[in-house]
Amino acid sequence: MNNFLELKNISKIYKKKKNIIVLNKINFKFQKGKSYSIIGPSGSGKSTLLNLLSLIDYPSNGNIIINNKIINYKNKSANDIIRAKRIGIVYQDKNLLSDFTALENVYLARLSVDTNKTKAVYDAKNILKKMGLMSRLEHYPSELSGGESQRVAISRALINYPEIILADEPTGNLDYKNAKDVFKKLLNLKEKNRIIIFATHNRYFANMADCKIEMIDGNIKITNAKI
Ligand SMILES: Nc1ncnc2c1ncn2[C@@H]1O[C@H](COP(=O)(O)OP(=O)(O)OP(=O)(O)O)[C@@H](O)[C@H]1O
Ligand SMILES: [Mg+2]
Repeated sequence: MNNFLELKNISKIYKKKKNIIVLNKINFKFQKGKSYSIIGPSGSGKSTLLNLLSLIDYPSNGNIIINNKIINYKNKSANDIIRAKRIGIVYQDKNLLSDFTALENVYLARLSVDTNKTKAVYDAKNILKKMGLMSRLEHYPSELSGGESQRVAISRALINYPEIILADEPTGNLDYKNAKDVFKKLLNLKEKNRIIIFATHNRYFANMADCKIEMIDGNIKITNAKI
């Protein structure tokens, strides 16, 4: 089976005066070659789940399994390498380093895993070209439109050819036309060796995924969007 990414009894509990159970013993297997949307009201745990999947945050209980290996949270440097090599992440905004051009933002993300700069620049240009940004390579983030910025962010997420792409409301700040374009480009990245997971408040975009994951009271409800 190609269960590349698995949540096993995952809970996330914030210990405040009263415990806040954001995720309550969630089990799920993500399969390569499929896209998944995460939906649910504000505060339902979409970002929490994505932050666990990106290994930025850790669960209160349970395990995340990537490529048949249980993630060990004590081994931070190993997890940093997994994130750099296997996971591409796109946020709603502030994805880019403001003092670097579009091209630099993309190729610098490669140098952390491979020091061949010529190859990194070559690959970054190719990806940016596919994203329709060939004429924006030397632009700084402040000189890009919202849609262009998000396409640079997607390019950067792609530079290490990750098997997992995570996006948290990637079009939250865009108008409908640009949002549609960004989602089209994001979902075009689907490959048989890749998993795409995105959170959105927009039902239309959520339905573009192969599978919909709805967050309800700390649990998930699965619906196959594309039937
Ligand atoms: N560090 C924290 N300490 C305590 N509670 C937190 C913390 N981070 C998040 N929460 C709580 O966890 C819940 C889930 O938050 P999360 O950001 O995952 O929601 P979301 O579904 O992404 O919402 P939105 O659609 O608004 O982005 C919220 O109720 C939030 O208040
Ligand atoms: Mg969120």
